[in-house]
Amino acid sequence: MNFSDYHKEIVTILDFGSQYTQLIARKVRELEVYCEIFPYNVSLEKIKSLNPTGIILSGGPRSVTETDAPFCDPAIFDLGAPVLGICYGIQLIAQLYHGEVQRSEKREYGRAHIYLDRRDGLLAGLADEDIIWMSHGDRIMRMPPGFIALAHSENSPYAAIRNEGGTIYGVQFHPEVHHTPKGKVVLRNFLYTICRAKGLFSTKSFIEMTTEKIRQEVGDGKVVCALSGGVDSSVVATLVHRAVGHKLTCVFVNNGVLRKNEAEEVLALFKDRLHLSLRYVDGSERFLAALKGVKDPERKRKIIGRLFIRVFEEEAHRIGEVRYLAQGTLYPDVIESVSFKGPSATIKSHHNVGGLPKRMRLRLIEPLRELFKDEVRVVGRELGLPGHVVQRQPFPGPGLAIRIIGDVTKERVEMLQDADAVIRDEIERKEIFGHIWQSFAILIPIKTVGVMGDERTYAHAIALRIVESEDGMTADWARIPYEVLDVISRRIINEVPGVNRVVLDISSKPPSTIEWE
Ligand code: XMP
Repeated sequence: MNFSDYHKEIVTILDFGSQYTQLIARKVRELEVYCEIFPYNVSLEKIKSLNPTGIILSGGPRSVTETDAPFCDPAIFDLGAPVLGICYGIQLIAQLYHGEVQRSEKREYGRAHIYLDRRDGLLAGLADEDIIWMSHGDRIMRMPPGFIALAHSENSPYAAIRNEGGTIYGVQFHPEVHHTPKGKVVLRNFLYTICRAKGLFSTKSFIEMTTEKIRQEVGDGKVVCALSGGVDSSVVATLVHRAVGHKLTCVFVNNGVLRKNEAEEVLALFKDRLHLSLRYVDGSERFLAALKGVKDPERKRKIIGRLFIRVFEEEAHRIGEVRYLAQGTLYPDVIESVSFKGPSATIKSHHNVGGLPKRMRLRLIEPLRELFKDEVRVVGRELGLPGHVVQRQPFPGPGLAIRIIGDVTKERVEMLQDADAVIRDEIERKEIFGHIWQSFAILIPIKTVGVMGDERTYAHAIALRIVESEDGMTADWARIPYEVLDVISRRIINEVPGVNRVVLDISSKPPSTIEWE
């Protein structure tokens, strides 16, 4: 097969704690160069062993003037790979090479202008005066000897610099954020003009290489995969199926607390349309029996998680002689960066399949380990998965059980499924709400009074939770047009028996959480 190993060309990003570190990585990969994030104090040996094409130093919240400021091994500057320092990174370079960095009380934050002092490869394509995004307190007041000024801003006399040899560069602004309109041009200049990268990384090269790797690893073995219908497991299943065909068996467990028609939709897509070998296990009665009388959300999570493992294990035994488990671990779960505290840290503790590989003594296949979520969606699309699958909102492993306050019964699950289906129709399936992170219903099983026709009703309330978020760590309630809320409310009250009231959750996270339980 003709494809190039994109790992042969790698940019290493040293993380000094910036909230934008992952964004740097995503931008570099969009520019078709593979990169990985490491903590700033990663060993020199590690970096050396990767033979990087370039090294990027991220921003960070600290000041290089502090006595215990984080520093990387200075020997990385002598490895021969060009270095680009961003924000904290440029100050670290200035400090290390004996310039002067001044602490300033006033932060330069937001949109600003830079003025080019010299035409240079890094800033090629920028106008003499251009717009950039700043977020820093400290600034360089005296250039390190042997360095050249490339640009200044209103507040920073040295907003871009390089050494005379053209191997070390620094920018005070953030080229990785979209508020710097030509930021990508700067990164491209660094990668292609300065590091002389070839650009080996692309969705296609990822798919080709990963397929081949899975094929080689699996050989004649059998693979199982727990398919949930979510983005990650759907892409994993499709990718592994592309590599080994029917040596992969997917197991889809209906735990009784799925969204309405979820099981039917997953079967129709993966079994009937994509022809994956898929075993459907209807465990709904078992799960609901195990949840009977349980009110505490953490207990619900544990019960569902453990029973899932048992059911999955039983099914895998029926398949017989399975050697591998394919799983949708993503890059953010793997990075040891100093700034990363994504939702996975919380989600992982109650993730359904976490305990599987150890118990079943299966070897793991994790084909998405190198990818960010956005990249997984692009791979999914390239593999032919429909838009509604790759764009799907996150859905918790314990499903509707944590959206029904108190007892989980069949009747309550059906009520919530029906209400949730209305929200799905009106929000999730409409393109204009593509920016919504999650939109769902919560069943509040207290009864309040209503009137329907001439009759008094005494029925449950449904809460709407519709939030915008970048990563699930923080969130804000989405400002949905009143007309849409009105349709949702009317439809739920008219179409869902047992519900006579709809309320809207207008809390942000923090201090509230996205889920109610
Ligand atoms: P919270 O409620 O903590 O949710 O603000 C943050 C994100 O995590 C999801 N979530 C879960 N996902 N199992 C999961 O797989 C769970 O038990 C669970 N609890 C919360 C939630 O949907 C949101 O995206």
